[in-house]
Amino acid sequence: MSKDGFIGYGRHFIDDDDCRAVEKVLRGDWLTQGETTTRFEAVLAERVGAKYAVAVSSGTAALHIAALAAGLGPGQWNLTSALTFVASANAGVYCGADSTLGDIDPHTLSMSPAAVERARREQPGIKTVIPVHYAGLSSGMEALRRACGDCVVIEDACHALGATEEDDVPVGACAHSDMAVFSFHPVKPITTGEGGAVTTNDKELYTRMMELRTHGIMRDHDRFEDPEQAMDGKDAAPWYYEQQNLGFNYRMTDIQAALGLSQMDKLETFTQRRRDIAGRYDEAFRGVAGMSLVQNTAAERKRSAHHIYVALFDFPALGCTRTQFMGKLKSQGIGTQVHYIPVYRQPFHKRRLGDVAANYPNTEAYYAQTLTLPLFPAMTDEDVERVIASVQNALGV
Ligand SMILES: Cc1ncc(COP(=O)(O)O)c(C=O)c1O
Repeated sequence: MSKDGFIGYGRHFIDDDDCRAVEKVLRGDWLTQGETTTRFEAVLAERVGAKYAVAVSSGTAALHIAALAAGLGPGQWNLTSALTFVASANAGVYCGADSTLGDIDPHTLSMSPAAVERARREQPGIKTVIPVHYAGLSSGMEALRRACGDCVVIEDACHALGATEEDDVPVGACAHSDMAVFSFHPVKPITTGEGGAVTTNDKELYTRMMELRTHGIMRDHDRFEDPEQAMDGKDAAPWYYEQQNLGFNYRMTDIQAALGLSQMDKLETFTQRRRDIAGRYDEAFRGVAGMSLVQNTAAERKRSAHHIYVALFDFPALGCTRTQFMGKLKSQGIGTQVHYIPVYRQPFHKRRLGDVAANYPNTEAYYAQTLTLPLFPAMTDEDVERVIASVQNALGV
């Protein structure tokens, strides 16, 4: 809850340990990317069971370098879900590629394997597929990987740190993908203020991403293109580095990484609290007229990271618009949000794709009905009950 008693749809959780961890770096010798970032990467990689992690300045930057490392470029296509934050689709466009979209499954809210197969039949130039683990529930990577054929698969796991696959493997282990991308934005499972990371088991992809996040610069003497320049007489020049490709400044700072390390200690507690709240909402809202639930089987609730709690509302049957319904909740101190406006409805993507809404019936049906209710680890039981009572009140039950 915020200081004025308003319960927003999501909120970070910061405690004294987080503040102390950040202060320690602030009072130390190194603020930008250094040893603390390396430690954060090691802890993240170990937690998800991947060989490597590359920490960067945002989930968007992580998607960008992952797509570039995959070799995506002009003349090729990226496929992602029609239902996602725009960053998943923009990643392909940043690389000069075209970006197409797959329709969602109405219950899991992820691109179904059938949608991926259809998109690949229609567009043989698809090089990368970015499935989105919507609201924290994995897209079911084993079946999806098969549908992706020889495409490079980059999981958009920005909602899903702490989630597991159907076989209990943590999301991010990349057992059925090439790379997985995380975001540490304040409402995400853990936060570094802004921040992101890519995990992978592929050494080559890892090396490429490490270079792309810092201007395309590398310092590996064995791989220099101009070994003569690298020498100072008989000695290797200690200042020498090479920019071999065009990269970016996408570095995470040690200040952010310190917060990330401290937040990682709480990931299990955060996930459990999110799961408990989602379970309580399910219990309160199951069978309520005018409302239906998604991603809510026991197995789904067990493996999701519950980044957000989305429910579907039949606004025409309730006799109000979504705006009016949101207003009723707001007047009771409850904040809600709509996740997301389908990517193809955004003017930038509409200019590229045309008016294609009719091709995405499941995404359209979802968009017409969805509302995100408050869910974040700092919510007290009283907050949760207040949300439930307010929704019931707005529904007139
Ligand atoms: C599904 C998804 N992908 C990518 C991103 C981008 O992450 P960031 O905000 O860290 O750049 C977000 C963030 O909201 C997201 O929800």
